[in-house]
Amino acid sequence: MSLTHSRRDFLRTGAAFGAAALAGGRELIGAPGQAPGTAGMRVVSSGNGLRATDKAMEMLRTGADPLDAVIAGVNIVENDPEDMSVGYGGLPNEDGVVELDASVMHGPTHSSGAVAAIQDIKNPSQVARLVMERSNHCLIVGEGALRFALAHGFKKEVLLTDKARELWLQWRENLSERDNWLPPQSKKFPGELQAYVMTYGTINCIALDAKGDLSGVTTTSGLSWKIAGRVGDSPIIGAGLYVDNAIGAAGSTGFGEANIQTLASYQIVQFLGQGMSPEQACLKMLERLADKVKLNPRLRRPDGRPNFGMNYYALNRKGEFGSASFTGPTQYAAHDGTKNALRPAAYLYKS
Ligand code: GLY
Repeated sequence: MSLTHSRRDFLRTGAAFGAAALAGGRELIGAPGQAPGTAGMRVVSSGNGLRATDKAMEMLRTGADPLDAVIAGVNIVENDPEDMSVGYGGLPNEDGVVELDASVMHGPTHSSGAVAAIQDIKNPSQVARLVMERSNHCLIVGEGALRFALAHGFKKEVLLTDKARELWLQWRENLSERDNWLPPQSKKFPGELQAYVMTYGTINCIALDAKGDLSGVTTTSGLSWKIAGRVGDSPIIGAGLYVDNAIGAAGSTGFGEANIQTLASYQIVQFLGQGMSPEQACLKMLERLADKVKLNPRLRRPDGRPNFGMNYYALNRKGEFGSASFTGPTQYAAHDGTKNALRPAAYLYKS
């Protein structure tokens, strides 16, 4: 991907290096006067993204475009069958079919691409980038997304691992005592069955390069046992991901419907633009969402708290970053150019 950067952008980035040194009390930026080059690079991701932040930073150090870097980062997790919330090995829909969602957004060109409910393709983040680069569309879904991927040389793969299939089967066999799906005689699944729990893990990864350019990606297998064709927030620009190269980037993992109804990632970037720190912006969005939840009995617990999980990640153009979750303590991954680590996220409610 070729990029051009104006001299004005370059100077603005250089100024940000010094200005951000004290931000949030964190040691985020190289000392004022440090040559632009490596000091400002940042990669932020969800708690399952420590390998992604490491890979993306490695690529940024070689001068890679930030979008290429974050996609290469999340590809590691998409390819890992042990992460059952993303890509290969992700938990399937109610029919036992893996359907994946992903979006990418490239700050320097303010362009985006996404796919939703795509089957048989392990790396939907790469297809999302193709949608951005090789079509005039922003979002292609289902069969059309698959055909688009195949047209560009992607190969169909079986995404349902035995582990994911067995969990789905447990869920299916325990849905009702009055249907024809029976658990094995030797195995009863009473009470706390893992498969009863709907999960909506995801990976978000956002990055800032040495030139001050931002990009991001969000990729997921979405809500487990979802109705076929359900689309979550991850492929919806403004919901599960948003990048404004002049301000910052934000992304989310958690219950997607709530993010679609509040355009959470877009709103977090607007909060950044109003001068909030990334952590403040994430917390402010959680407070706003918690208020909205009070209007919807289906989304709240008897005590009024949200009955779902939500995590936000934000990174501004100055290199400040942060994360917040509804319930904590929890962690997110961030590489600050020196150290790649899981860091504590802020939270609204103690678990
Ligand atoms: N955030 C992932 C989903 O709800 O699909």
